[in-house]
Amino acid sequence: MTFRLTYATMFNPPPEMHTQFEAALAKLEATFGQRHPLFVDGADREPAAWGEKRTPIDTDLVLGEFPLADAQDVDAAMRAAHAAFPAWRAMPVAERAALLRKAGDLMQQRVYEIAAALTLEVGKNRMEALGEAQETVDFFHHYADDFEQHHGFDHPLPNDPIDGVVSRNRSVMRPYGAWVVIAPFNFPFALAGGPVAAALVTGNTVVFKSATDTPWSGRLLAEVLRDAGFPRGTFNYLSGAGREAGEALARHPLTAGITFTGSVPVGRNLLQQMAGGAYPRPCIAEMGGKNPCIVTEHADLDRAAAGIARSAFGMGGQKCSALSRLYVHEAVADALIEKLNAQIDAINIGDARRREHWLGPVVNAAAYDNYARYVTNLNAGGAKLLRGGKQLREGDAARGYYVEPVLAEADLDHPLWKHEMFLPIVMLHRYRDRGEAMRWANDTDMGLTAGFYGAPDEVPWFQDHIEAGVTYANRPQGATTGAWPGYQPFGGWKGSGSTGKAIASFYYLQQYLREQSRTVVE
Ligand code: SER
Repeated sequence: MTFRLTYATMFNPPPEMHTQFEAALAKLEATFGQRHPLFVDGADREPAAWGEKRTPIDTDLVLGEFPLADAQDVDAAMRAAHAAFPAWRAMPVAERAALLRKAGDLMQQRVYEIAAALTLEVGKNRMEALGEAQETVDFFHHYADDFEQHHGFDHPLPNDPIDGVVSRNRSVMRPYGAWVVIAPFNFPFALAGGPVAAALVTGNTVVFKSATDTPWSGRLLAEVLRDAGFPRGTFNYLSGAGREAGEALARHPLTAGITFTGSVPVGRNLLQQMAGGAYPRPCIAEMGGKNPCIVTEHADLDRAAAGIARSAFGMGGQKCSALSRLYVHEAVADALIEKLNAQIDAINIGDARRREHWLGPVVNAAAYDNYARYVTNLNAGGAKLLRGGKQLREGDAARGYYVEPVLAEADLDHPLWKHEMFLPIVMLHRYRDRGEAMRWANDTDMGLTAGFYGAPDEVPWFQDHIEAGVTYANRPQGATTGAWPGYQPFGGWKGSGSTGKAIASFYYLQQYLREQSRTVVE
């Protein structure tokens, strides 16, 4: 029997979760080296070129060969999605929702296998990987329920009698067409599956492109949707080619809309491309974060240290929600630093396949090299490294991209306060009055998540003044991370998000629809 993971069990896993994960890992390890094709127009598609994918856990290990999609593959996928659109749009909402639920159920059956692929592909620890796989199952059910409960967002409007002629009025929400989903490496399954589910249930067809580093989880998503029985062409999967494929998709004349999750420069570029073409098309861009946390003199410091460490260092700080800026009241700064150091010292770094390792490698050679560069920059800019700073590729760990978590105290003029590093590096500064802490916390072009530890009567002040789309107060399980569909809508303000509407919120699905006002005189 499969144990069903929930948000709560992630923090307190029962033993069978480990045995099932390890069995799934062994099953995938037996397939190492195999080829995994594209999925276009209802069938596997051989690409023009293949690329080898290695794991950041141990760069000697080849996971398999994956497609490097080219312009012809992009075109074939877009044409298939476009051709499938009229029939898919016409399918009753209940049938589309039922297919989503079926996909969610199949995903549930394969949840350990998906999690094992995530661990191998990006090096996240098993609980983070299982959390992501389960979150994706929940996205499929959440969006199916949400769309049905809101009756597709259609609603009648008052009749409109003029000179005895009565107009019957109605607003209906209609899909756009072939929708492109471009997913990031850090949540390659959840931030693919969520937008894919949203686009499909609302009646759009989909071309999904996985991140360069994560083709395997992309292929698994394609298999689940294939097995659920989505009609031919409604869902198409591409991998490889990173930025070029993204731009080719944005330029394609059949692209009706895009959901992109990734970096600010790529997101801005896509927004500009989507504003061009024959006419502007929608682009939901979920971009980076430079997420702050404020700790006041009234905080429970044990709780703060646990939540900060989890959010700053979980998955090597490579989450858009990761904590990277810490503002601490001077009266409690030394005590908090001591507790944070103890948290860091307790972190086991190493091969993420193993149960005892909480922190696996960073995702690739570029991230690994960036780490060394940022540590040099921190030192050069006068920051004091309180913990960490070493790369561990040779010697201490396996032949993977392992690095130590960093806690650095820095003056406010250090340039890295304004730069998204996407690594396990947190910068700290002491404050005297909370007004200045809030000004510093908001002094950024980003606005995704923010954390707070302090007295209960300080919380409204924090949430009213902080410029961030996702806020957490006094949360030990994570200062800035760990949003779950149905519980915490997740979306950024300012440079972190292009629409101001959060994932899995009441407003999310409406972004995949355009309104048609229908007036009829009988
Ligand atoms: N759900 C993840 C988190 O909140 C990010 O997408 O950390």
